[in-house]
Amino acid sequence: MVYAHIAGWGMSVPETVMTNADLEKIVDTNDAWIKDRTGIRERRIASDSQSSSSLAVEASLKALQVANLKPTDLDLIICATSTPEHIFPATACLVQDRIGAVKAGAFDLLAACSGFIYGLNMAAQSIQSSAIQNALVIGTETLSRFVNWQDRNTCILFGDGAGAFVLRASDRPGGVLSAVMHSDGSGSNLLILPAGGSKYPATEATVQAGRHYIEMDGREVFRFATRVMAQSTREALELIDLDLDQVEWIIPHQANIRIIEAAARGLKLPMERFVVNLDKYGNTSTASIPIAAVEAVEDGRLKPGNKVVLVGFGAGLTWGALVAEWTGPMETKPKVYPSRYRFWARLRSRLRRFARFVEGLIWGRHS
Ligand code: COA
Repeated sequence: MVYAHIAGWGMSVPETVMTNADLEKIVDTNDAWIKDRTGIRERRIASDSQSSSSLAVEASLKALQVANLKPTDLDLIICATSTPEHIFPATACLVQDRIGAVKAGAFDLLAACSGFIYGLNMAAQSIQSSAIQNALVIGTETLSRFVNWQDRNTCILFGDGAGAFVLRASDRPGGVLSAVMHSDGSGSNLLILPAGGSKYPATEATVQAGRHYIEMDGREVFRFATRVMAQSTREALELIDLDLDQVEWIIPHQANIRIIEAAARGLKLPMERFVVNLDKYGNTSTASIPIAAVEAVEDGRLKPGNKVVLVGFGAGLTWGALVAEWTGPMETKPKVYPSRYRFWARLRSRLRRFARFVEGLIWGRHS
């Protein structure tokens, strides 16, 4: 039997911090309200030179470094994102090119804030079926580009950032143990970025009407989220007959502290068993779970051998949970330096573009 181990992890967040006090200068809100209703104190905002793919590249190279894998060892890249750089090509392909993952298939996965759980499950299944050996799963967002900074119902919630896991095949038991994925499109209107797709292509009218920004029915999303968090956690555990008291950590999607508290009540667990860092980053959608996991590893809470539940919900509506035994880096020698591949990746990319240009000249396409 083949197991899919989480062997590497990395995160990247922009340096620019936007506090609740900064928001007070933009919209009619206040620090006390935001902290009380959401638990968020500050969030990170991407600079003009940063994008969903650039944050993803940073997080991915760190994850490869921990896993001690070369980008060329990757068979698959799944990029979960709600804020891709373009409708197409996939942001995953931009990452593939920039890190030099020349053997990897790459695609984006859109399941909103549940995307990282969906992506991890898909990659784990591909490894467990022996179709592939090594996968990179990314959650990356630049939500600040899609937030209406005049809408206090939404702009206080979101932030930018990226997180990535490397999954590796091994016959040693552990890694991803079970997962459940759910959806309910009847709630598609509750959290939506209406325009810019094929239904409402970008026009002057859609731009003027502000339809390229996130729209949300906060109360309904809140009710849905509090219902599904505990439920899907239990479902994923039941699949492998694991009890909650055998789980060291719950890493929930970081949307609102009150949603996490409701999940804790539903599961009859103390808040100490939940990894929470939404006070620092707000809701970073697909990136929130891997960022929380990376911080928990780095501060020594999440240790090899720990059982962990990742659980999330989001637009769609989608929700899901995944149970894993945390592995830690696996032995591979000699030591590799994935970031050094960046130079060669850039060179390779330029050469390929040049070769395409020359081919075009030969076949007369540039005349
Ligand atoms: N600052 C100050 N007041 C605000 C405000 C803000 N940023 N946003 C809303 N308000 C006001 C509302 O206008 C309302 O005033 P009213 O009673 O005079 O109409 C009041 O605060 C209460 O609004 P309500 O929407 O009931 O607040 P809430 O307690 O439900 O909290 C959310 C709002 C958005 C924080 C909460 O509903 C939520 O977190 N929902 C889930 C959102 C989410 O997680 N989305 C991402 C999913 S992946």
